[in-house]
Amino acid sequence: MHVLALVTQKGGSGKSTLSVGLAVAAMQRSERVALIEADAQGTISRWKERREHPYPRVERVVDPAEIEPLIARLRAEGVWLAIIDTAATTNSLAMRVIACADLCLIPARPSPADIEAAIPTLIAIRRLNRRFAFILNQTPTRGGRLSEAATSLSSLGVLALPFVAQRNDHQDALGAGLGVTEFAPVGKASDEIVSLWGWIAAHLAEESDDYGKGALKAAC
Ligand SMILES: Nc1ncnc2c1ncn2[C@@H]1O[C@H](COP(=O)(O)OP(=O)(O)OP(=O)(O)O)[C@@H](O)[C@H]1O
Ligand SMILES: [Mg+2]
Repeated sequence: MHVLALVTQKGGSGKSTLSVGLAVAAMQRSERVALIEADAQGTISRWKERREHPYPRVERVVDPAEIEPLIARLRAEGVWLAIIDTAATTNSLAMRVIACADLCLIPARPSPADIEAAIPTLIAIRRLNRRFAFILNQTPTRGGRLSEAATSLSSLGVLALPFVAQRNDHQDALGAGLGVTEFAPVGKASDEIVSLWGWIAAHLAEESDDYGKGALKAAC
């Protein structure tokens, strides 16, 4: 089972929106997916209440000690991918999630202040020796300032592609209890999330190969 964590102490960067969008996109590729909510704010739980489709399953964790047993249980039940949405903080729960993640995804809006605000999270990820990638989210649909933001993020580490533009479909999908690929299957927001899932899936596959070759994997 692969464990993806959406993390950054910067609020409103898109952790929950991308968690949902990616979970549904992966599920539509026939993957067995679970969403784990590690944020008392409850964005994912409320989305699930609005949702008519029973999948993906949603689990909540409150205590850091709950994470590892939950991941073990999901793995035993045959879940292929767990996506963990975290709160905008580097609290002990977020730290435990990072420690358990195969890949940490750090969404950031394309502004210097937002990118800088992710640095404490990046430091924590590096301290725990986890893999990570930034996602540039809520980018303007047109405009030339993006390359500057992308260069800043690339200088801090890996940048997942493509960028995810600011599009109403993401907000409307969340409100409707849907993933954006369900809400507007033929649309640019959906295309971006499908492509982003492809990028992530390829990196998870690489991680599995490394693991198979005996690469050191820190215990979570
Ligand atoms: N690509 C996007 N296009 C349009 N709206 C977006 C996009 N990504 C996120 N949003 C919107 O931005 C707001 C914040 O997103 P979200 O709640 O996912 O952030 P978060 O990082 O989970 O926030 P928090 O730190 O409070 O948990 C929401 O209203 C969401 O719908
Ligand atoms: Mg959130």
